[in-house]
Amino acid sequence: MKLIITNSYDELSQKAGQIVKQAILKKADLVLGLATGSTPIGLYKELVKARNKEGLDFSKVIFFNLDEYFGIASENKNSYHYFMQKHLFSKININQKSIFILNGQTKNEAKHCQWYEGKIKEKKGIDLQILGIGANGHIGFNEPRSSFNSRTRLVNLNKQTIKDNSRFFSSMDDVPKKALTMGLATIMEAKTIILLAFGKHKAKIIKKALTGPITEKVPASVLQNHSDLIVILDKKLSPIVIHR
Ligand code: PGA
Repeated sequence: MKLIITNSYDELSQKAGQIVKQAILKKADLVLGLATGSTPIGLYKELVKARNKEGLDFSKVIFFNLDEYFGIASENKNSYHYFMQKHLFSKININQKSIFILNGQTKNEAKHCQWYEGKIKEKKGIDLQILGIGANGHIGFNEPRSSFNSRTRLVNLNKQTIKDNSRFFSSMDDVPKKALTMGLATIMEAKTIILLAFGKHKAKIIKKALTGPITEKVPASVLQNHSDLIVILDKKLSPIVIHR
């Protein structure tokens, strides 16, 4: 595990941005796995900056998103389709055909998830996967007790996640209770993984995930088994990890 400690959210975003930028410069047709949530927004700003100021070329990059809410349309302002268009896709030079995001309105989720796994294989796997971490240790929407062998599938969101997500919705009833997500085995097959965590509220779970037992109770703990994991934290979280 490579640990990068930063002094601020801006620095965390810049470090992550540099790694992604270097990866694209090295491989123009990089297969890039993306995450949503508040944590990677600064990283996406950095990528937009790299496009505008340095002309970084995204035209051959292939994008796969980690997850999507189930039962909401891609035009819905809370969908992850919408999030990605808003924060990244509409601002860089991408080939729309190279964007893969799970369809929250699929009529046949099993077949759709199989198709998604097939697409990742067809593109020879994810080169670089960006991850955030939920306060309950989820990565993607792999909630506690998800199998380490899990693949892309429909999942029930747990109470804490529904509560955490409710800040974006007008009422509790509107918060999706299910989602489609890449599985833990799918994520672990990415060649390189960057885990980003910022803020004191993530300290406890980061300690558990990176220094505690590897257990399905803490889905992110599986990352300890990954051979090329880069963790970028802010300094408020770092002492906990350094003094292991
Ligand atoms: P956050 O979400 O980036 O908004 O903290 C992370 C997650 O739940 O995976």
